[in-house]
Amino acid sequence: MDIYILGIESSCDDTSAAVMKNDVLLSNVTANQAVHMAYGGVVPELASRAHQQHIVPVVSEALKQANVDKSRLNAVAFTRGPGLMGSLLVGVSFAKGLARSLDIPLIDVNHLQAHVIANFIKEPNEVVEQPAFPFICLLVSGGNSQIIKVNAYNDMEVLGQTIDDAAGEAIDKCSKVMGLGYPGGPIIDKLARQGNPQAYVFNKPHIEGYDVSFSGLKTSFLYSLRDWVKEDPDFVEHHKNDLAASLEHTVVDMLMDKLRRAVRDTHINQVALAGGVSANNGLRNAFREQAEKYGWKIYIPKFKFTTDNAAMIAITGYLKYLDSDFCSIDLPAYSRVTIK
Ligand code: KG4
Repeated sequence: MDIYILGIESSCDDTSAAVMKNDVLLSNVTANQAVHMAYGGVVPELASRAHQQHIVPVVSEALKQANVDKSRLNAVAFTRGPGLMGSLLVGVSFAKGLARSLDIPLIDVNHLQAHVIANFIKEPNEVVEQPAFPFICLLVSGGNSQIIKVNAYNDMEVLGQTIDDAAGEAIDKCSKVMGLGYPGGPIIDKLARQGNPQAYVFNKPHIEGYDVSFSGLKTSFLYSLRDWVKEDPDFVEHHKNDLAASLEHTVVDMLMDKLRRAVRDTHINQVALAGGVSANNGLRNAFREQAEKYGWKIYIPKFKFTTDNAAMIAITGYLKYLDSDFCSIDLPAYSRVTIK
């Protein structure tokens, strides 16, 4: 019997719904929230209001594109956390209401775990090479930067992580300091392609083990820029490509250094990327270079499955469905949680 899962993601500023038929993705619809651009970052209250406006049309569109009537759904999977509480509550409440009305099981999904499992998303008529367990995953997003040993889809061990800012957060903040738009990641990525990565040197703190720290880099970037702008008020405009390339290079170098150590020490040479920052071209290139140099077998999700999306929630929901790993209707959302 075919299994149909509806996935719902609303942890931050993207309202997304996806439908899976067994392990194949039929649709993945996302409404982004332009409202935050004017503020240079996500405004939680505005995010939750926008989710309320988007959730019904996004879910309807996902079912329509998949050509699946809601009566055929076997379960509703939703992001339980981590994320912004007001945003999560919209998706969680909607999922609960829908599952109850259809009298089908509810499946709670850890957003971080789902980012990793995005490496298993398969679209119709597509053969996707999937990592075998155990593998190492570098998860880098706006809220997290972690090196994870993935023993099974539901058994993940954090080997190292940021002790302060996430990689995406640091890039977004540096972009904001440069007066570029939000989110800064894709803008920095674009500018960096035209710049010299060796043009400027920023602080790289020494952190033990596989942990990383990006707050020192952010401060170093801010102070250096402040001094340069004092000398030349148009400094950013004249040097934005080199600034972006040097910033990106520093972040990528720090991440690759820790990833290399983790792979070396665990002797696991299957390595995956995940999370919004893994859309970054500099990171993808450096990852491929490392793979070639050290003989890693690598896995990189498609661009559209790196940033927040419901397809990753639906595939994780499908795997949990096979294990009958359902949750109760009174399960609360959580804003902070580690990977499991
Ligand atoms: O995974 P995601 O959509 O949300 C979280 O779960 O955090 O990641 C969002 C982050 C933002 O910081 C954004 O600037 C960054 O991913 N990002 C990028 C790129 N595309 C998105 N960072 C660098 N280069 C990109 N191309």
